[in-house]
Amino acid sequence: MLAIINSLALVGLQGERIQVEVDVSGGLPCFDIVGLPDASVRESRERVRTAIKNSGFEFPAKRITVNLAPADLKKEGPGFDLPIAIGILVATGQIENPALNDYYFVGELSLEGTLRRLPGILPMACYFSSDNFNFFVVPEDCALEAALAETVKVIAVNDLGQVVNHLTGVDVLEPVKVENKNFISHAAKDDLDFAEVYGHEGVKRGLEIAAAGGHNVLLLGPPGSGKTMLAKRMLSILPSLQFEEALNVSKIYSSAGLLNGTNPLVADRPFRAPHHTASAASLIGGGKVPKPGEVSLATGGILFLDELPEYRRDVLEALRQPLEDRVVTVSRVAAAVTYPADFMLVASMNPCPCGFLGDAEKECSCTPYQIQRYRAKISGPLLDRIDIQLEVPRIRYKDLEQKSITESSKDIKERVEKARKIQRMRFKKYGLECNAQMTPKLVKKYCSLSQDGKELIKLAFEQLALSMRAHDRILKIARTIADLADSQKIEAEHLAEAIQYRILDKQSMFI
Ligand SMILES: Nc1ncnc2c1ncn2[C@@H]1O[C@H](COP(=O)(O)OP(=O)(O)O)[C@@H](O)[C@H]1O
Ligand SMILES: [Mg+2]
Ligand SMILES: [Zn+2]
Repeated sequence: MLAIINSLALVGLQGERIQVEVDVSGGLPCFDIVGLPDASVRESRERVRTAIKNSGFEFPAKRITVNLAPADLKKEGPGFDLPIAIGILVATGQIENPALNDYYFVGELSLEGTLRRLPGILPMACYFSSDNFNFFVVPEDCALEAALAETVKVIAVNDLGQVVNHLTGVDVLEPVKVENKNFISHAAKDDLDFAEVYGHEGVKRGLEIAAAGGHNVLLLGPPGSGKTMLAKRMLSILPSLQFEEALNVSKIYSSAGLLNGTNPLVADRPFRAPHHTASAASLIGGGKVPKPGEVSLATGGILFLDELPEYRRDVLEALRQPLEDRVVTVSRVAAAVTYPADFMLVASMNPCPCGFLGDAEKECSCTPYQIQRYRAKISGPLLDRIDIQLEVPRIRYKDLEQKSITESSKDIKERVEKARKIQRMRFKKYGLECNAQMTPKLVKKYCSLSQDGKELIKLAFEQLALSMRAHDRILKIARTIADLADSQKIEAEHLAEAIQYRILDKQSMFI
């Protein structure tokens, strides 16, 4: 007899329906899985066989053929254990007259017959639309995660026996409800605050603009000037995540297997700081079983690359594409999958190998050739994509003594939130969050300049030999500066401040 069971597979962050067809017929006992299964799916046979026996059911001594359709999609992972087991029990009449059309099953079986959690349950649950009244049967440990989707009835199960009892009406389970959609942010516990950083008022202003508009930023200064300290405090001034954004970030973490059962939502903006020995693959994502890389895990938050020139050249080059497109495409043997890569880059570097180029008191000991080679590690196209370049000078002793009143992160964040609200309203119909995400078309529409402004940018363009990309990026920053000032129009002063943040373009004239 033939049984057809619905299941789901993940392609990138997209759920795809898989039909698990199980045929049990007479003939020599055997158990085959076809339909482009990888090794981990083929291993499913041993788990399913043992789990069925250990759950008190009968494993048929017959010819069993399992087909996973559509056949052209590569199937990975142990998630088909449960639908295959259910298919065998239905095909052998051990589950009688089940109404399975609205049911979808995903889960890894242990040899005992209990169910284990799987990565990617949240993006799978987002496959369903709320008007179909589907049921999604998942291991209990991922149930809260699945229920975040709200468009499907999630049935949480612990073991195979429980699934059978539910389907046969012996012990029907109620769909999981998420009681409290208000998610808990942990950011407040983190006590890193801008108030701890003395001086650097100009740098803090630049970081405030970066946070308000989601712009990339580079901190340039000698060792010990506080670059790392400042970067680590950036999260404390970024606007809080909205529920929709948190859901999107959680989908990525779910597919990477980084969520846990009790706290399934990523409620705070991510801060990813990969080591400078990181490979391009770990940054961009990929592998045999595709996984999102650091650029995707930083979506909605910050990718921090400390000491930028220390990173491998190919890694830095690989960053260019996601920085431009805000998505990353990982090619694999079978297909290409796309993940979001919508992060804010925060990077730091010394101005030269010794670190003291441009310092008021200490002399730089590098040769022009050394400096050029050091700078050349970061190519022009990458620098072009870093909108705000900030010089972080060494703090002098008397600045420390002054202990002038420094603003707390909370105060800065308030202004950032206000400016972000303006942006959210502006881009509502485009589904965008901040100025950094504007397409060239939107830049044209929302960043028009006065006559003064036009002349100013023309001058800057000629003197700094800016690229067209830098041109658009300057306009975006000017837009953010105007938003922080609650000004509809971009005034010449906003533009002038934006241009001033391209210090490396200026400095390149002097080296
Ligand atoms: N502006 C500052 N205010 C307070 N402490 C500072 C400041 N700048 C540097 N420091 C101190 O110096 C240490 C080194 O700073 P760090 O951020 O690691 O420098 P960099 O990354 O620029 O080399 C910090 O941990 C901090 O204790
Ligand atoms: Mg540092
Ligand atoms: Zn030097």
